[in-house]
Amino acid sequence: MASSSSSSFSIITFSVFLVLVGMASAQLSSTYYSSSCPNALSTIKSAVNSAVSSESRMGASLLRLHFHDCFVKGCDGSILLDDTSTFTGEKTANPNSNSLRGFDVIDTIKSQVETLCPGVVSCADIVVVAARDSVVALGGPSWTVQLGRRDSTTASLSKANTNIPAPTLNLSGLITAFSNKGFTAKEMVALSGSHTIGQARCTNFRARIYNESSIETSFASSLKSNCPSTGNDNNLSPLDTTSPTSFDNAYFKDLVSKKGLLHSDQQLYSGGSTDSQVTTYSTSSSTFLTDFANAMVKMGNLSPLTGTSGQIRTNCRKTN
Ligand code: HEM
Ligand SMILES: *[C@@H]1O[C@H](CO)[C@@H](O)[C@H](O)[C@H]1NC(C)=O
Ligand SMILES: *[C@@H]1O[C@H](CO)[C@@H](O)[C@H](O)[C@H]1NC(C)=O
Repeated sequence: MASSSSSSFSIITFSVFLVLVGMASAQLSSTYYSSSCPNALSTIKSAVNSAVSSESRMGASLLRLHFHDCFVKGCDGSILLDDTSTFTGEKTANPNSNSLRGFDVIDTIKSQVETLCPGVVSCADIVVVAARDSVVALGGPSWTVQLGRRDSTTASLSKANTNIPAPTLNLSGLITAFSNKGFTAKEMVALSGSHTIGQARCTNFRARIYNESSIETSFASSLKSNCPSTGNDNNLSPLDTTSPTSFDNAYFKDLVSKKGLLHSDQQLYSGGSTDSQVTTYSTSSSTFLTDFANAMVKMGNLSPLTGTSGQIRTNCRKTN
């Protein structure tokens, strides 16, 4: 009796110990580089500002890179790994192929921070900080980024194909895709507000402009010359028709006017459970910007590699 209760006491004590160790090693910190690389954050910000001022769309591309990294095995820089004859990365996955951009900007930043502090700043952290700085550069909200992620030595093409939501999904599919990563429907709506910046290819909105009824007629017509019913799959149109280079709440106003570009965009305002959230964001920019920033912090915390897991890559495109 005594021995059984004392052994269950030690099992409990040991489990508490393991949980505490797990928490300590999973701890990110906003001051992670303050002594090991004090100029890391300012270097990233300058490089992002310069890339976005050369091409404003780059801000959108860097934000999307962060999303596609974090939704596949967590924010571990796996999205950056190039395919080789012996390694399959995530770049050829359906949502990424011919679509994801910004890798050169990440390479430039990485080489700058490697010069400053060799082997210290992870590619995974660079992607997270660059996304925040991109949103700020386009007039959006700021937030404090947690740091100390390490880089993966693996990638998953199959998870990139299944975990990143497709633009053909209906509302329940979108809610499920985000719920699988721990997000509420409200956070999913806030994060979708990213589509207030950036561009999409004709192949991703053709069926919507030719075949759907929940689209404003003149908006659909205006898109057809640049997106014919066949061919020109890669022609671009802005996701937010009114202000594609400003991080504002215009995307939600578009949805209320049935001017969402993607099928998945308009699903957020199609008579379902998220309509009222879209209406709120369309009328209150500050509510959207606050909810977006909070959801972005949460996205950045998806399954980071910490402690002795992973590595600090020297070149973001390949493992050391
Ligand atoms: C809700 C589910 C989502 C779906 C179905 C979706 C789908 C898409 C698609 C199909 C494109 C256009 C890609 C192309 O045509 O090449 C796109 C672009 C974009 N997405 Fe999403 N997305 C979603 C959520 C998000 C989230 C959560 C973020 C960021 C936090 C994001 C950020 C972006 C940005 C910024 C662009 C424009 C990129 C550029 O111009 O380079 N998206 N998305
Ligand atoms: C949403 O899509 C899924 C999978 O395609 C389908 O099973 C479901 O019936 C759809 N839900 C609605 C409400 O249309
Ligand atoms: C529109 O729907 C019809 C009937 O389902 C289909 O044959 C056609 O390919 C669709 N067009 C586009 C552009 O998706």
